[in-house]
Amino acid sequence: MTATIGSRGASIEGRAITKTFNTADGQVHALAGLDFRIEPGEFVSLIGPSGCGKSTLMLIAAGLIPASSGRMLVDGTQHDRPLTDVGIVFQDHLLLDFRTAIDNILLQPLIRGMALDAARPRAIELLRKLGLEQAAKRYPRQLSGGMRQRVSIARALIHEPSILLMDEPFGALDALTRTQMRHDLEVLWLETAKTVLFITHSIDEAIGLSDRVLVMSAGPGRIVDEIKIDLPRPRPAHLGEYPSFDGYAERIHRTFRQLGVIRF
Ligand SMILES: Nc1ncnc2c1ncn2[C@@H]1O[C@H](COP(=O)(O)OP(=O)(O)OP(=O)(O)O)[C@@H](O)[C@H]1O
Ligand SMILES: [Mg+2]
Repeated sequence: MTATIGSRGASIEGRAITKTFNTADGQVHALAGLDFRIEPGEFVSLIGPSGCGKSTLMLIAAGLIPASSGRMLVDGTQHDRPLTDVGIVFQDHLLLDFRTAIDNILLQPLIRGMALDAARPRAIELLRKLGLEQAAKRYPRQLSGGMRQRVSIARALIHEPSILLMDEPFGALDALTRTQMRHDLEVLWLETAKTVLFITHSIDEAIGLSDRVLVMSAGPGRIVDEIKIDLPRPRPAHLGEYPSFDGYAERIHRTFRQLGVIRF
């Protein structure tokens, strides 16, 4: 059986989360006592150096792997099974080559045993919102990288989950596509009020998208700073238009310099 939660945005809370992996080389301490809370409908980014445990934290939040200790709560209830009321977007689009864009999206309701007649118009609507309605019948190999990631976002949202977990979804895209994707995701989020945990290496992206940014130390990961981003939405392509943008960016740079992650 899998855990299910309501359809509105749900809170996610981690308390003293640790994770240690056992490998042939010995133990890897990925997370070292991590506390955080994401409010229902809040957009929170997690930024930190490579290997600090971001993906591990996301997998624990989704209930796909267990924490070594600590508690992960969704809407105040501890869960130790895979969440069903969640959409996940991974860094690789993970689309099936032999299914068209729309059939990749519909795979999600198909696996969940949902009525496809009802899901199809919603898939078309999501494709339209993501600027992809003309590409519904194309196969992944016929789509650009940005288009594939849009399809995976639609696939993560088709069952209207209350939580969206995104692991560097735009990491492989060029800067211009990334800027446009940031805006499109923001608009979609403003319409749907999902709770979002967004992992990124990009300081601009974290500030551009988030209500709050959580900054992680190098592994084993801890949250070392938390910054509330008080900027109106939707946010512009050029974030420097906001006088306070530089202050947020400098604060994150300063933290990474103090941690030795950035050394200049
Ligand atoms: N299944 C696993 N078995 C053993 N070690 C693992 C496993 N998954 C992750 N790790 C280790 O845990 C640490 C954190 O990995 P994780 O993938 O969470 O980092 P990350 O912050 O997502 O990095 P990146 O930004 O490069 O994606 C790393 O040292 C990694 O090698
Ligand atoms: Mg990762």
